[in-house]
Amino acid sequence: MRFLFLGDVVGKPGYSAVLAHVANLKEQHALDAVVINAENAADGAGLMPRQYRRLIEAGVDGITMGDHIYRRAEIIPVLEKSDRIVKPANYPANATGKNWVIVPTPNGKLGIISLMGRVFMRPVDCPFAAVDRVLEEIAGAADAILVDVHAEATSDKQALARYLDGRVTAVLGTHTHVPTADAHVMPGGTAMQCDVGMCGPYQSIIGRDVARVLKTTTTFEPCHFHVATRDVRLCGAIIESDDQAHAISIERFEVPVPYEPGSKS
Ligand SMILES: [Fe+2]
Ligand SMILES: [Fe+2]
Repeated sequence: MRFLFLGDVVGKPGYSAVLAHVANLKEQHALDAVVINAENAADGAGLMPRQYRRLIEAGVDGITMGDHIYRRAEIIPVLEKSDRIVKPANYPANATGKNWVIVPTPNGKLGIISLMGRVFMRPVDCPFAAVDRVLEEIAGAADAILVDVHAEATSDKQALARYLDGRVTAVLGTHTHVPTADAHVMPGGTAMQCDVGMCGPYQSIIGRDVARVLKTTTTFEPCHFHVATRDVRLCGAIIESDDQAHAISIERFEVPVPYEPGSKS
């Protein structure tokens, strides 16, 4: 199986780029599936149901989220019903959403799991215990398994990746919005990259308008952080897996996308 995982889709620049390009990317790169992290799609925080529908219609096969998952309450019914979007598996048991989904692809079934890290983040349940539970539940049901580790610290991500080496196809990081240069297949056959980078404007501070963020950072006076607009790129990683659900390869993926601020999406 060949699949592309795209990191945090940020605001309209990231969202409209994914919508416009996902079908072409599938064809150009002979992809069986595209999975995205959409936690920042709705003006930088959350995902609206309309966006969810359009992304799936455009060809997105599965969606992960992160700490912004419930920022738009409208998404809750989608999280209850959809078989294409997951919540972090180490969120409270009562939190709305599925701990895993398995999506069909032309080349087998792709399992999708999301985990939150614990360093410099809101306290959550143990991600190691959570992923053990999920892997037991889905044992044998998927031909490849993608784990999105949504975490701040590279050490947190590396620990989870090493813990899962040989047990899943890929452990790919999100949340920092900055791609790391460590994409590789670990000795047990699991591909990993600490952060695949965001789909959004790179002339920014993690996707937000530079002047706005600097104003608050230097004065401590809060203001709304608008999503930036320049140097939009789609970033992620392409994984190829064998019939044992191990990774054969991981390639960093990064393409610039023209963006007209004010364009309709
Ligand atoms: Fe994010
Ligand atoms: Fe996040």
